[in-house]
Parts: sequence; structure tokens; C-alpha cells
Amino acid sequence: MPAYDVAERDWRLKLNANEAPTTLPPLVEERVMARLSHIAFNRYPNLEMKDLIEQVASNYSLREEQVFFGNGSSEIIEKLFYAFGGKNHSIVYPEPSFSMYKIYVKVADAKGVPVGLEEDYSLDREKFVRAVKDSKASLAVVCTPNNPTGNLIPLEDVEYIAQNIDCALVVDEAYLEFAGEDASAVKLLKKYPHMIVARTFSKAYGLASARVGYMMADEAVVRMVEKAFMPYHLNVLSLVTADIVYQMRDEFQPRIYMLRDECRRVAEELKKIKGLTVYPSHTNFLLLKSVKAEKLNEYLAEQGIGVRSFGSAPRLENCLRISMGTREENDLWLGEVKRFMGGKK
Ligand SMILES: Cc1ncc(COP(=O)(O)O)c(C=O)c1O
Repeated sequence: MPAYDVAERDWRLKLNANEAPTTLPPLVEERVMARLSHIAFNRYPNLEMKDLIEQVASNYSLREEQVFFGNGSSEIIEKLFYAFGGKNHSIVYPEPSFSMYKIYVKVADAKGVPVGLEEDYSLDREKFVRAVKDSKASLAVVCTPNNPTGNLIPLEDVEYIAQNIDCALVVDEAYLEFAGEDASAVKLLKKYPHMIVARTFSKAYGLASARVGYMMADEAVVRMVEKAFMPYHLNVLSLVTADIVYQMRDEFQPRIYMLRDECRRVAEELKKIKGLTVYPSHTNFLLLKSVKAEKLNEYLAEQGIGVRSFGSAPRLENCLRISMGTREENDLWLGEVKRFMGGKK
């Protein structure tokens, strides 16, 4: 079975995991530290989870029973695959997309049914629905905006898929905040009780260290899936930190705008470089394609700049994924890319 393969080292510039380039905003960090100083370390987590659920439910006008938290959206997705997978069950997902889907399929002992994205990485909704029907799938997953391709699946296509399949449909919205709430499928939950939206605090809220993610779904789905989690699965340190981050989420908005704007600015700069294809992105990262990708990856690594190379992954040959840093950081790696591609290294 393949393992999650990111070659890590102490990078000068770490742009390989779509993390936020900076830690919490100072005001948020101050509140988190104050809250952490009066934790009852002897107690299992209890009301802390409830506080967080209350906030999310109220923000999206959902009942509290419709929201469930996990250790990153990774744990949510993994457990959904366990709950709906198993022998003789098929799980349909796009390819290329988040590399963990096919690993969770295996661990869940299910049959994976990848649906190839089109040449421009868009998702053909008819083809996807057909794959779900033909395989009599128990679970289907879409990722919007999609990792690693960066493109958004139009909401009407997500709705079309929901309308035309009757198995559970997970909409993985790990990068949604960069595209804006209008693009979210949350508003469709009332209409489609077989739809599950997965979100994370790891990207736009820069809380990857704490591992916090959640799902929003019909309460019957939540009741069923929560059985796959161990008791008290989320620790109090992460719960109270996420609670404050969510309370203060407006503090993150300027950063989200900055990363989105940087993505656009850098994409325009990269497009000027001969021999490089840049894909449109609604996220905090860009996907590049070049016949020189492997050598460029090696060159950047020599400069201490870590980006994500996909090796020979299907449909991602000669592709690199680069997460946005601060403006200064982006200028630094952009300069190195220009130097390498211009042959001036
Ligand atoms: C599309 C997608 N979904 C889910 C995740 C999992 O994120 P986390 O477990 O940090 O919430 C990631 C992380 O990179 C991702 O790219």
C-alpha cells in the first residue's frame, strides 16, 4: 500500500503542504495562550467540543447534531470511508485529487473507482454520475476547490451530482475559504440529506498544527459516522484553540485575501515564463507543468525551497504544486524559478 509521501526536511522556504505561511495573528495567539493556561488537564474533553459545535452550527444555521469534529478533515474523511466502505462497496473519487482518497479506500477494504478529470482538470459531472451508478457505489467524493489542480467545481455541478446519485456524497471543501462561501455546498445540505461537507482549520485558519476539521451533514449521517470514532477523540488543547480561532475568524480574513491575491499575482508572473503552464487556482497554491519540472524541483530543493512534486502520479507527470507564502517569500521563489527556466542558474 502506498504511504503518504512527502519528503520533509528543514526547508528555508516550506511550500509543499499548502500550509499558511505565518502563525496565528498576534491577537488570536494571545487569547489562545491565555485560554490554554487554565485547562483542567485531569479531565477528558467534554463541553469544549460542544462550544465549538455550537459556533459552527449557528454560523451555518444548522442544528448542533449536524456538526461533528475530528482530528483534521483527514480523520473525518478516513472515518467516512470506513463507515461507507468495506468489502463489496465501491467508493468513487476524482483523479487527480487529494492523494489520500485512494489510500483510505484501501484501508477501508473498499473498491476504488477513480474518475479521470478532463484535459483542463474540470470534472465531467455526467461521467462522474455514470461511474457512481455503474459501480453501485456506497460513497462518492468530490473535492472543491480541487487539490492539487486548484480549480473549483461549479456549485451547480455539485448539485447536479447530488440530484442524480443516491449514495452518500462527500464534498471536501478543505480550501473553500479561499474561493469564498458562495462556492460552498453547505447551503445544499437541507435539500440533500445524503450530502456531507468536510472542512478544515488547517489551511485558511493556519491551524495545521492542532489537527482540527469537521463535517456538516444530516444528523442521521452524523449519528452513524460518529460510531467510527473513539471516545474523546479530540484533545482539549486543540478544541479550545479552535474555539478561539473560530470566534476570531474575522482576524484571518485579511490573510485569506492576501494569499488569494498573491496566487493571482504570482500566476500572472509565471505565465510570462516560457515553457511553463500555470493552471487557474481558487486556493492558496498553484499547479505548474513543465518538461523541466523534475530538474526545477531539484534546483529549488538545492536552494532550500520545498515544493510538491508528483513524480509519476497519474495525470500529474511534470507537475509541481507550490503553496503561496508571504509576498516577500513568493518573490524569492519566483526569482529562483525565473533564474532556472531562463537558464541563468
Ligand atoms: C483536499 C484536502 N482534503 C483534506 C485535507 C486534510 O487536511 P487536514 O487533515 O489538515 O484537515 C487536505 C490536506 O492537505 C486536502 O488537501
